[in-house]
Amino acid sequence: MSNFAALRARFPVLARKTYLNSGSYCALADSVREAIGAYMEDRLRVGANWDVWVEKNEAVRRAMAAVLRAHPDEIAVTASASAGLNALASALDFRGARDRVIVSDFEFPTNAQIWHAQETRGARVLHVPRAADGYIPLESFARLIDERTQLVAVTQVCFRNGARLDIPGIVRLAHERGARVLLDCYQAVGAMTVDVKKLDVDFAVGGMLKYLLGTAGIGFLYVRDSLIPDLTPSHSGWFAQEDIFAMDITANRPSPTARRFEAGTPPVINCYAAEAGLNLILEVGTDAIEERVRALTRRCMQQLQAIGWASVTPAEDARRGPMVCIPSRDAAQLLERLMRQDIVASLRDGNIRATVHFYNSDGDIDHLIAALKSCRARHAPQAT
Ligand SMILES: Cc1ncc(COP(=O)(O)O)c(C=O)c1O
Repeated sequence: MSNFAALRARFPVLARKTYLNSGSYCALADSVREAIGAYMEDRLRVGANWDVWVEKNEAVRRAMAAVLRAHPDEIAVTASASAGLNALASALDFRGARDRVIVSDFEFPTNAQIWHAQETRGARVLHVPRAADGYIPLESFARLIDERTQLVAVTQVCFRNGARLDIPGIVRLAHERGARVLLDCYQAVGAMTVDVKKLDVDFAVGGMLKYLLGTAGIGFLYVRDSLIPDLTPSHSGWFAQEDIFAMDITANRPSPTARRFEAGTPPVINCYAAEAGLNLILEVGTDAIEERVRALTRRCMQQLQAIGWASVTPAEDARRGPMVCIPSRDAAQLLERLMRQDIVASLRDGNIRATVHFYNSDGDIDHLIAALKSCRARHAPQAT
């Protein structure tokens, strides 16, 4: 069993802050800070250490594959989730009978905007609406996915309210109807086990600055191995070529692996940080992390109920990600008030968003709840 108290000590900010903001940007681990320092040392002592840097990109690819339980050849290391989505979109053809992309009302903007951007290439984008209770049940996906659907591009956990969608159900439906599934697991991966093989998704995107403990400016795209040969991105670059250092300007020769979805020079310094963050996730183990995070969000949900302040996040464990969203009549002021008490959270849709990682403690949840309780009359929604 992981010693979470000892692990907590590896994140210096936790000595000063109740840090409930990993869904925006993770707390900085000592090993990630050291890794960034190692890059600086490299620059000062060696100058341009290209062989080491190219290998760092490969180390990130291997570690990311291990986290997703995929093969390294199925991973593209990208500059962002958006970059991975764009590279994938550029390889899809919307001119045939399957011209539809289904997205949900829970998407982060980029995973809808990029598909809408494909409308100039023939795509039609349909949105699965949220139901009156705020959730999106499987039946709503069943109504829209059909023989005209090429892709269901869907988030695992909604960044606005913490709701977790029924991904196995959506994948089953989509595959039965001949469509592929892209999973945006950015608000889940690192805080939960995301086993792309078990989930049977065709593609997955995310990035390293949140629950993967790395930094901004680096992400990943997973592509199922059997699909890679038939997908040729027009969004490309020299690091996407079969032989990067052939420097051939006469043709586009994409890598036979998912590296074909990459583009230019890797974000070297970010690779250092991402590798250290991913290794920490692998060291703790995603199953143990998921269990820990579930217990913490459950504690938060139960305590909110006890103080009579209803959350907009689903109460059922299976429908909840690593996040609890708390409505307020003036969330911006409440956020400031929490900040003054050294509680770091974020704000979405008029809700306070408390996002949890394995380094959080029962004490962090209790601190948040005590702070909310003390200002309940001033900040809780009128109806509660
Ligand atoms: C669910 C989700 N998808 C995508 C993104 C955007 O990723 P990027 O900025 O790397 O394109 C975010 C960022 O917050 C996110 O939460």
